Amino acid sequence: MTIRFDSGCDPVTIALPKGRLAEQAVELFTAAGLPRPELDNGRKLIVESADRTVRYVMAKPGDVPTFVEYGAADLGVCGLDTLRESQRHVYEPLLLPFGYCRLSLAAPAGRPDTPLRYESQPRVATKYPNLTADFFRARGVNAEIIALSGSVELGPLVGLADLIVDLVETGDTLRANGLIETRTILEVQAVLIANRAAYHLKRKAVEQIIGRLRNYLTGKEKRGNRDGGNH
Ligand code: PRP
Repeated sequence: MTIRFDSGCDPVTIALPKGRLAEQAVELFTAAGLPRPELDNGRKLIVESADRTVRYVMAKPGDVPTFVEYGAADLGVCGLDTLRESQRHVYEPLLLPFGYCRLSLAAPAGRPDTPLRYESQPRVATKYPNLTADFFRARGVNAEIIALSGSVELGPLVGLADLIVDLVETGDTLRANGLIETRTILEVQAVLIANRAAYHLKRKAVEQIIGRLRNYLTGKEKRGNRDGGNH
């Protein structure tokens, strides 16, 4: 299905986070009747829809909010964790039903779970230094944040950190490394974000895309409730 544009309007550019979230986003866009990217072997970083109305930019997940804030993309899909950590200023017109997990504080299994305000300068390893600093600051705890770029669970195992803040989905990674989730910091799911200027300048096309996604998701919810009621 084609998106109709105002005359003279460029294609709408959508930044997708390379990996599983992008696959789920493409699945949703296709189901909602939006032009799908002509995906190749995954090497190409800009992929147009066959009708050339939508241009998909395949970005590193953490960079999607930056692309959208600066207008390099009109719309984007990312996780709420990435968006909040980035502190980028964008619109958030629609939560999307995938990418569910949570950002949690975790500690070694044997460590006493004292109230946070009694923690004395804990060292906390994380890929989310801004969210982690906000979390401890709000609780009056002077934490030392150690920013890592992956395998954060290693922190307590090698004596680098007392605690970690990381994403938890099944909890398998924490369990496998002798860690226990002690607090949920943020419930996470995917979100559609929009550049603030594009929201107005390309309003017709952007509204069509958001409208189609919203209609599809609302219809799906209704169908789900109806089917559920029949059992
Ligand atoms: C994420 C996260 C945890 C793991 C949680 O890591 O950082 O390590 O998944 O999933 P689970 O609760 O289902 O075990 P990812 O696979 O993205 O790799 P990374 O740590 O290198 O970023």
